[in-house]
Amino acid sequence: MSERIAVYPGSFDPIHNGHLDLIERCRPMYDRLVVAVLRNEAKRALFSVDERLEIIRELVADGGGCEVLSFSGLLVDFMDEVGARIVVRGLRAVTDFEYELQMALMNRRLNPRVETVFMAPKEEYNYLSSSLVKEVFSLGGDLTGLVPDPVLARLRRHLEPRAGHDRRR
Ligand code: PNS
Repeated sequence: MSERIAVYPGSFDPIHNGHLDLIERCRPMYDRLVVAVLRNEAKRALFSVDERLEIIRELVADGGGCEVLSFSGLLVDFMDEVGARIVVRGLRAVTDFEYELQMALMNRRLNPRVETVFMAPKEEYNYLSSSLVKEVFSLGGDLTGLVPDPVLARLRRHLEPRAGHDRRR
């Protein structure tokens, strides 16, 4: 039987506990899981792609069927390069659904061999997003339990909390 290879693509700017929960959940389901960080020069990001790869590699042990790579261009082309047929995406609230369905159908149209598998994160991460992580941090909010330590450390380096608003004591 051929290897079951899945790709978990995203911007991961930065990765948070919802993403990590999903990775741990789907790792045992596939022989190989490729966490794929999109290189998109057009989109302004807080962390460089290299930094995002470094963070994710620090958190997700390479080997054991999991690897962390970057890609540019069409996802379906990258899937061909790594020999994968399954895209894994997290589905949080209904608000995600329309965008995710659109992407899944377009990807299948571009390559009929590609299927998308949607996974629900742990309930406590259902409202979590990378944009909220950046916003809450920059306004001095507490992110305990929502992002891993290496992300917190790098957020501190990149974003100074607004004076007088730091509640992370
Ligand atoms: O975490 P994100 O930003 O929601 O991830 C979006 C991502 C990277 C999965 C999506 O933008 C993508 O696959 N981009 C690659 C370009 C592509 O293939 N576009 C057509 C997809 S329908």
